[in-house]
Amino acid sequence: MRVDIISIFPDYFAPLDLSLIGKARTTGLLDLTVHDLRTWTSDVHRTVDDTPYGGGPGMVMRPEPWGQALDAVGTGTLIVPSPVGRPFTQADAADLAGADHLIFACGRYEGIDQRVIDDAATRMPVREISLGDYVLFGGEVAVIVIMEAITRLLPGVLGNADSLTEESHAAGLLEAPVYTKPASWRSWEVPDVLRSGDHGRIARWRRDQSLLRTAGRRPDMMTAYPFDHLDKADRKT
Ligand code: ADE
Repeated sequence: MRVDIISIFPDYFAPLDLSLIGKARTTGLLDLTVHDLRTWTSDVHRTVDDTPYGGGPGMVMRPEPWGQALDAVGTGTLIVPSPVGRPFTQADAADLAGADHLIFACGRYEGIDQRVIDDAATRMPVREISLGDYVLFGGEVAVIVIMEAITRLLPGVLGNADSLTEESHAAGLLEAPVYTKPASWRSWEVPDVLRSGDHGRIARWRRDQSLLRTAGRRPDMMTAYPFDHLDKADRKT
């Protein structure tokens, strides 16, 4: 997968050299380039922003550098992180993991001149994506989050692909709690069932915990969960 990230803070993306994203880059699964938007400015101050038409606080990112930057990286799926975007979900991550070329445009200040997005949409799919109902300084951190969610779904990135099917959100429910050794820690015991070796009981316990957690923490997910995905034992839980 090819990824181009355009930002006025390229240094923000140092973490993308680390861990499994870094490894995906060295092994060639991920061909990722970070671009400095100011490369495409022409004045001595390398200006990327100006005051908003119609008045109001803050500054807006000017269209000219963005237009040139997007022309230079070519076409793909353009992702613009923004608090006015659609909420990002695991389904979006799975969908974007199938793309050949992703382009991320990191807005700062009050955002990017809308014409940049409207113009790009005439030649490529554009998605404005929000991480949640809160406002960040800019799109950089959101891009790192979105890239993590996508990269771990790329074939060959995770050692054990089973962890993808078992995990929270993959199946519409939150995952059960997990434990490791020692069996007793500060007088806290690992639930007996997990040490029983009875795989049927363990699976049932995990399923129950998953349903209880989801119902308690995320009633919205429980409501959305298809009723015909619940077996008889689930309905008792
Ligand atoms: N940029 C600023 N706030 C954001 C948010 N909540 N999600 C994505 N990008 C953003």
